[in-house]
Amino acid sequence: MEGKIKELRAQIEELAGKVAQIDELKDVRFKYLSKNGAIPALMKQLGSLSKEERPAAGKIINEFKVWATELFDKKEEELGKKALEMRYIKEAVDVTMPSKKSKAGHLHPVTLVRNELIDAFTGMGFTVFEGPEIEDDFHNFTALNVSADHPARDKQDTFYINDDLLLRTHTSPGQVRAMETMKPPFKIVSPGRVFRCDDDGTHAPMFHQMEGLVIDKNLSLCDLQGLLDTLAKTVFDKDTKTRFRPSFFPFTEPSVEVDVTCCECHGAGCSLCKGTGWIEILGGGVVNRNVIKNCGLDPDEWTGLAFGTGLDRIAMLKYGVNNIHLLYDGDVRILSQFRK
Ligand code: PHE
Repeated sequence: MEGKIKELRAQIEELAGKVAQIDELKDVRFKYLSKNGAIPALMKQLGSLSKEERPAAGKIINEFKVWATELFDKKEEELGKKALEMRYIKEAVDVTMPSKKSKAGHLHPVTLVRNELIDAFTGMGFTVFEGPEIEDDFHNFTALNVSADHPARDKQDTFYINDDLLLRTHTSPGQVRAMETMKPPFKIVSPGRVFRCDDDGTHAPMFHQMEGLVIDKNLSLCDLQGLLDTLAKTVFDKDTKTRFRPSFFPFTEPSVEVDVTCCECHGAGCSLCKGTGWIEILGGGVVNRNVIKNCGLDPDEWTGLAFGTGLDRIAMLKYGVNNIHLLYDGDVRILSQFRK
């Protein structure tokens, strides 16, 4: 028995000295200490000894078992520590290393222009009023005094959904919805997407406008001039001048088209303004009495000022973009240039 123990002890010492992984150690421990392992097998041999020999032999085997268990435990602790140290080394993070730059997004140039205008107008007491992109004929045309035979109603110009519903062709239906729902006097701006069957270098089937509407008593074209002058100076620079040219819109009377001094040459004349020194940026006027009536207000009591401007056009002028599609193709080489 003692010879056998000596042999096993030597084997265990050798194996335990060699193993480098916890898993291997577990295999060795299993081989010697599990129920059918070599050490319990010694216990089973006790039965073949004489009664007198048994207690002493049992004690020796037990001591051997305790020795082996302690050896494996110690080895396991050692290997565990070593594995942890290796992991610390492998997973170490050098906090002094520069981090990878994450690519943050930024606002689209049209959004920048929209936000600037909203800022300027809310500063003057305007609120933002948003209308739906799918409109009906009444809000997009009829209430705005657009006659039944007006070319804008043509199916070649407007995206119709059915005989009554269409994708709004301008933000002016926002005027109608504001007058229908708000109690005058009020001042609103209504920014949003608009749609027209149009597609070339300076026109896209989807673009953005911002409508402005003031409803109050005794408003005149002079008030509009002051407002739009502020708008121009906000978007371009404070030296920008505005001028009104007579125009026609069914929903305003009188109607004007508004030019600003060219942002490129400041009025001297260049290719952008075709030598005139002026660039058209919006349409506006005094709200037509018929429109006020169509929206349920008394035109003898209330007067209105309205204007509408193209946000994409302003962004293009302001940032020197010569093709509207560059704004919408999603090319990050273009769009990332507008990071502030
Ligand atoms: N809705 C007009 C357009 O799309 C612009 C406009 C708005 C003109 C308000 C007058 C008053 O061109």
